[in-house]
Amino acid sequence: MKALVLSGGKGTRLRPLTYSIPKQLVPVANRPILYYVMDDILDSGIEDIGVIIAPETGEEIKRSLSGYTFGGPKHKDKGGEFEPRFTFIIQEKPEGLAHAVKVARSYLGDSPFVMYLGDNLIGSGIKGFVEEFKSGDADAVILLKEVKDPRSFGVAVVNGRGEVVKLVEKPKDPPSNLALVGVYIFSPEVHKAIDRIKPSWRGELEITDAIQELINMGRRVKAYVLDGWWLDTGKKDDMLEANRVVLDDLIEREIEGEVVNSRINGRVKIERGARVVDSEVRGPVVIGKETVVESSFIGPHTSIGNRCVIKNSAINYSVVLEGSEIIGIKNLDESLIGRNAKVIKDKKIFEAIRLMIGDDSEVYV
Ligand code: TTP
Repeated sequence: MKALVLSGGKGTRLRPLTYSIPKQLVPVANRPILYYVMDDILDSGIEDIGVIIAPETGEEIKRSLSGYTFGGPKHKDKGGEFEPRFTFIIQEKPEGLAHAVKVARSYLGDSPFVMYLGDNLIGSGIKGFVEEFKSGDADAVILLKEVKDPRSFGVAVVNGRGEVVKLVEKPKDPPSNLALVGVYIFSPEVHKAIDRIKPSWRGELEITDAIQELINMGRRVKAYVLDGWWLDTGKKDDMLEANRVVLDDLIEREIEGEVVNSRINGRVKIERGARVVDSEVRGPVVIGKETVVESSFIGPHTSIGNRCVIKNSAINYSVVLEGSEIIGIKNLDESLIGRNAKVIKDKKIFEAIRLMIGDDSEVYV
């Protein structure tokens, strides 16, 4: 069994952040999203992993994965248990998820494979589903999650035996509230289906069309509905939500940095070389390596990256990427701050500030 991780694409919905950082590398609890994807794949016993990359961001993905080791907060004690073998496959243009499979055809050969979107996360991991696939006779396993408004998702209709009868992409009038999650398991039969489909109205080879084609070919497509969380981190609010869920779920109290005259409450991770002085931190929170927090409040569900400076500020429910400075901001909320950005206050303002600013930006208020 192999895995195919999709780390290409444009990431337009996370701009301006994604002008300089591929969205699969945006950190959640100070770890690239892609690392959690790799954790799930290795945990299912698959070590042979193809990674789809775009020409623009591929090198950064490669560099980041060269620093990856299995483990992370979910599998703390298992570091070194699995050794991933990455094969990078360039997709010249993001012409759809099924197109990515086509590009990876010679890498995949006749092997069944898990396809995992590099910006998706699921709480349950994938081990159980991989085992179900191996012991069953389906040509595809898809994962579904109940959502309130399915109109912006791929939506599935499932029969009483858990088999998919029909798939519709972004329906105006959804036939169910079960949305397709970004994890799929396929037998090599899927390649035949992909060869038979045409690009959709948006010019992409859609994986939903390929799965529908498998059904039309009389193949069995099995669906499992997730109980736990699913996060598609493609937009700002989803990113903050992903950060909240991962901090809630996975972060434990771990203080490696220095704490001086400060109150640290709850599950707070302060990484090596960080200094927290005259401040209050209320978990779950992660503070990255060599970051300085001084005379500040860091509220729940906040991740501060490495080498940041936070002074005279209060930050809640936010993600601050590495190298940024936040000074004199008493009410930074629900914000996503790019790398090496500066948010510095020199006038009196009273409203809460909500920001989405890219790398190297400067905001003076
Ligand atoms: P999407 O979020 O559907 O597409 P995108 O990355 O172009 O984002 P946006 O809509 O914000 O412009 O992609 C889901 C995942 O699959 C993501 O990790 C990128 C990856 N992908 C590819 O690798 N190749 C592709 O052709 C497409 C469409 C996506």
